[in-house]
Amino acid sequence: TKLDMELAAIEKGGYDHFMLKEIFEQPQTIYDCLRGRLDAVHGNIILSGMNQYAEQIMNAPRIIILACGTSWHAGLVAEYIIEELCRIPVEVEYASEFRYRNPVIHKGDVIIAISQSGETADTLVAIETAKEQGAIILGIVNVVGSSIARKSHAGAYTHAGPEIGVASTKAFTAQLAVLTMIALKIAHEKGSINNERFMHLCKELADIPEKVALVLTQAEAIKVLAEKYKDATDALYLGRGYNFPIALEGALKLKEISYIHAEGYPAAEMKHGPIALVTDTLPVVFVATKDSYHEKVVSNMQEIKARKGRVIAVITEGDTISPTLADDVIIMPPADEIVAPMLSTIPMQLLAYYIGVAKGYDVDKPRNLAKSVTVE
Ligand code: G6P
Repeated sequence: TKLDMELAAIEKGGYDHFMLKEIFEQPQTIYDCLRGRLDAVHGNIILSGMNQYAEQIMNAPRIIILACGTSWHAGLVAEYIIEELCRIPVEVEYASEFRYRNPVIHKGDVIIAISQSGETADTLVAIETAKEQGAIILGIVNVVGSSIARKSHAGAYTHAGPEIGVASTKAFTAQLAVLTMIALKIAHEKGSINNERFMHLCKELADIPEKVALVLTQAEAIKVLAEKYKDATDALYLGRGYNFPIALEGALKLKEISYIHAEGYPAAEMKHGPIALVTDTLPVVFVATKDSYHEKVVSNMQEIKARKGRVIAVITEGDTISPTLADDVIIMPPADEIVAPMLSTIPMQLLAYYIGVAKGYDVDKPRNLAKSVTVE
């Protein structure tokens, strides 16, 4: 009815779609997630939902991260961050694979379950199984009071607010913010990073909301790119290190929203297959911000360019080499590599959104997809 439509328009707060509204909310949602927890001035991180298990988590022999979909990509980023900062071995598993294969779980293993809805059936059953075998379950959940939150021993909410768009956006960056805080807290308490690096990273994390706002000012420019690339039938997304999961997430977003076939790959691994797909019609998105992997990514970009691929590069301000290799660039403010994924993921979301809209699709409710998958 007309009333329903008017109500829906009000809920979208002036945006055309929930997905766009939620993308634009990210400076606020990340801020909300950090607020009252991260004190960058004094170098203090308070995660009260974890206090009771702090000792066990810090001394965990290993951490297993369980999730599905976009939340699984947040887990992959966390693997890189936790191993680097905390020196604890981390495995990231699709909950659906983990639960069905009789996994090896030891008493004292820490399981981090990541879920926006807190209701994903595979993730829920996976943690129940692990709990029975003596693992400590840490839930990183958005929906307060959801099943996964209730089944966990300890946890931290992402505080991103209700996410309506089926494709996850603001919940993902909030997951990254929480996981980064957890890693920093463990690392600081264990002494696996020095105080200077800890203080620096706290500050870098606190600066993220403002930098996300800066990235969002490029939305119009990304819309123009969307027009340019919307008729592609396939796309390749490449990244290394902390940005490899962001390449996976970029490809997933494009598939979900615009129905363009897309693959995400670790940039180096493209030589073992995907490079055969490169022609002068294939868009290749490089997530290539300035980090310890950057030189290597640039040489991968050269390889794609030599084969006439159409390179779209997400780079850091001040990078003078990538623009000579790319057809189009999207520029990120400088940030430490540990926190950079929260920035580089924004253009992935916007590109998929604008391509989906340009193609006339219902971006808030993509075909065949559900917001929360409660069947196994
Ligand atoms: C569905 C949604 C995705 C989400 C995934 C995991 O596939 O469409 O956006 O990433 O489920 O959901 P969860 O609620 O557990 O994060």
